[in-house]
Amino acid sequence: SWTSEHFVDSAVLALQNTIGPDDQVILGLSGGVDSSVAALLLHRAIGPRLHGIFVDNGLLRQDEFATVLKAYEGLGLNVTGVNAAPEFYAALEGLTDPELKRKAIGRTFIEVFDREAQKVQGARWLAQGTIYPDVIESVSVKGPAVTIKSHHNVGGLPEKMSLKIVEPLRMLFKDEVREVGATLGLPGEILNRHPFPGPGLGIRILGDITPEKVDLLQRADGVFINLLKQHNLYEHVWQAGAMLLPVQSVGVMGDERTYERVVALRAVTSVDGMTADWAHLPYEFLAEVSNKIINQVRGINRVVYDISSKPPATIEWE
Ligand code: XMP
Repeated sequence: SWTSEHFVDSAVLALQNTIGPDDQVILGLSGGVDSSVAALLLHRAIGPRLHGIFVDNGLLRQDEFATVLKAYEGLGLNVTGVNAAPEFYAALEGLTDPELKRKAIGRTFIEVFDREAQKVQGARWLAQGTIYPDVIESVSVKGPAVTIKSHHNVGGLPEKMSLKIVEPLRMLFKDEVREVGATLGLPGEILNRHPFPGPGLGIRILGDITPEKVDLLQRADGVFINLLKQHNLYEHVWQAGAMLLPVQSVGVMGDERTYERVVALRAVTSVDGMTADWAHLPYEFLAEVSNKIINQVRGINRVVYDISSKPPATIEWE
């Protein structure tokens, strides 16, 4: 019968037999489960000849880049963190259409990733965290995992550098990937992470994106996610996050009138992201999140909760 230990042993042997003794391997890391597990597996097989590239697109969650990079380094991975936020913001400037924003983010990712990949001498392979549901194409175009879609998008790279593709997780389901990750010592913080879209906060800021809006949303989202964890609700929802709406509303603070931004909280239960119900979070909890966001995040004076199911509403607002 399948066990994660057996899988790790045989996958490591297979990788060692496939990848030549001097071959270098490139892998894009996202902080998600799939790319992280693929990295650990490859690291066990070929050590520092695995070159992880982790791009900060400026659209990650609060503190995410630093925290995850540290976790990777703590695991002994050979990983390069690339701070490319200004490049992404420049590419996004003035764009409001969700699909145009997605395209700009995807294109910039390829440019940044390509550039970093060219720096790896002796690169022969591009590793990907593709898992079985991606292989059988049962996921929607807007797939749940950042890594898979972005990596498939690393268009010209394999040809330009004549890289061969290696996908060590391509026969695994998500729960098996998690078991393998646990066996390889992936910290729970990454192992049990909610899905997060490749375009990140870029599709949670409705309308155009500015560094100031990213900062506001990161702080509001940070309050929400941290409180979900503190109240042991994080593992009971499938995905959660805050959306920054392109409206301002009137409020009062002390004896001052305010005219500030609105944040919508989204939390869903789901099996695969294809359908979803809004999470019936306790009113007391929602009250605490709302108060904390409004008290701590200057520039936000109103918080609403999204009570729409998918379909017809999608999980992301864009
Ligand atoms: P929707 O909004 O379509 O989301 O209900 C379903 C799942 O897909 C994620 N999602 C994306 N993931 N690139 C991604 O890598 C995208 O452009 C994208 N759009 C949505 C979403 O976070 C949810 O998990």
